[in-house]
Amino acid sequence: MRIAIVGSGYVGLVTGTCFSDIGHEVICIDNDPAKIEALEQGEVPIYEPGLKEMIAKNVTAGRLAFSMDIKAGVKFAEVIFIAVNTPRMPSGEANLKYVEAVSREIAQHMNGYKVIVEKSTVPVNTSRKIFKTVSKYIKHGIEFDVVSNPEFLREGSALLDVSIPDRIVVGAGSDRARKIMAELYKEFKDKILFTDVNSAELIKHAANSFLAMKISYINAVAQVCELSGADVEEVARGIGLDSRIGTKFLRAGVGFGGSCFPKDVDAFERISRNLGYDFNLLREVQAINKLQRAQFIKKIKDQLWVVQDKKIAILGLAFKPDTDDIREAPAADIIKALGEEGGDIYAWDPQAVSKMRQLYPDVTYFEKDVYAPLQDADVCIIVTEWEDVCNLDLARVRELMKYPLIIDGRNAFTPAKMARAGFEYISIGRAPVKGK
Ligand code: UDX
Repeated sequence: MRIAIVGSGYVGLVTGTCFSDIGHEVICIDNDPAKIEALEQGEVPIYEPGLKEMIAKNVTAGRLAFSMDIKAGVKFAEVIFIAVNTPRMPSGEANLKYVEAVSREIAQHMNGYKVIVEKSTVPVNTSRKIFKTVSKYIKHGIEFDVVSNPEFLREGSALLDVSIPDRIVVGAGSDRARKIMAELYKEFKDKILFTDVNSAELIKHAANSFLAMKISYINAVAQVCELSGADVEEVARGIGLDSRIGTKFLRAGVGFGGSCFPKDVDAFERISRNLGYDFNLLREVQAINKLQRAQFIKKIKDQLWVVQDKKIAILGLAFKPDTDDIREAPAADIIKALGEEGGDIYAWDPQAVSKMRQLYPDVTYFEKDVYAPLQDADVCIIVTEWEDVCNLDLARVRELMKYPLIIDGRNAFTPAKMARAGFEYISIGRAPVKGK
């Protein structure tokens, strides 16, 4: 099928590339000339494992192209995806100005029946507004449908999520649109869940908020574990083995970040309130997440006593491994808090350094050698559980550091291992290891 994707950010680019990989003809459109120029030259503006290779393969095969020409894209396509960003406004609500503008543009260039698919994460009822907008600006007599098809991609494993999806949610109001969407996803026909449009829109926010709630729940349990002498890893395992609960998303840590959970929980809480329901539970999910970060920073400060002039090694800047994304990354808050008190910060990350450097230019950064920031460090802080961090040679770390203190925001090591290696070790929801 012929597909146009409007908005070549993270979601648009991954979605378009994966559609081309299963044989569809795809044009990814964006209004940023630098981005399109880079993509045309084989450069990929984001880091996602395997994406660069998949783009190259499908461009060479003639199934994937990039363009700024929305008019040509609309005319070419049978299905048009809206995948522009929906940034958070100061009020917490999603800003839909790009969705609105793109809907108008699509309408003006429509030359026959097409399915317009809302892929961006939007509040419930947005597709109705898209429908109204397109109806207003489209030439008389041209028919179309608006469908909601939310994405559930996790950064770092997005290609896998697209090729082995748990489910594909399609909210469609007509048989004609349902048929086209079924054809589009025919590779995954057993995975498609057809719903009405409003439900599909709500599923995205409800799913992400539920996952965020699971994380905040285990983080709250971790606090109680610390106070009671229990071990959160044991507790998470013990509750997760109940198949009704499940073991996933029960990793206690420094709190969730990224471009989705914080924004989506906020948006869902506000949408619910605007509709007349006070979703207090979601505010608590946010409050626990905020507290989790604050407590972690407090642990660091308590250990250092005086932060000024201490050499602080931070391992991991991205909000999670296998991405260069630092949006709502805990590392940014940690750098800010310790920098304000005069800490001498040395940070390592294999992908996110250039982005973090723009925010905090005074930090000394390393991209290659994970051991480099540890030389003579007073403390090592683990913020992102990159593979290189989980595989650290602890004897070498011990030798490099001025004092063997590790504060681990991801429970990347067991306390027993740290005790054997001779470290003072503070983690989340587990008894501290005192060191020698
Ligand atoms: C998320 C959703 O998983 C995805 O379905 C959605 O479409 C986009 O948002 P993503 O933001 O890429 O994906 O990251 P995810 O892997 O879900 O992790 C989000 C945050 O939660 C990270 O900061 C991660 O470190 C944290 N997390 C995750 C935990 O603290 N504990 C866990 O057990 C799991």
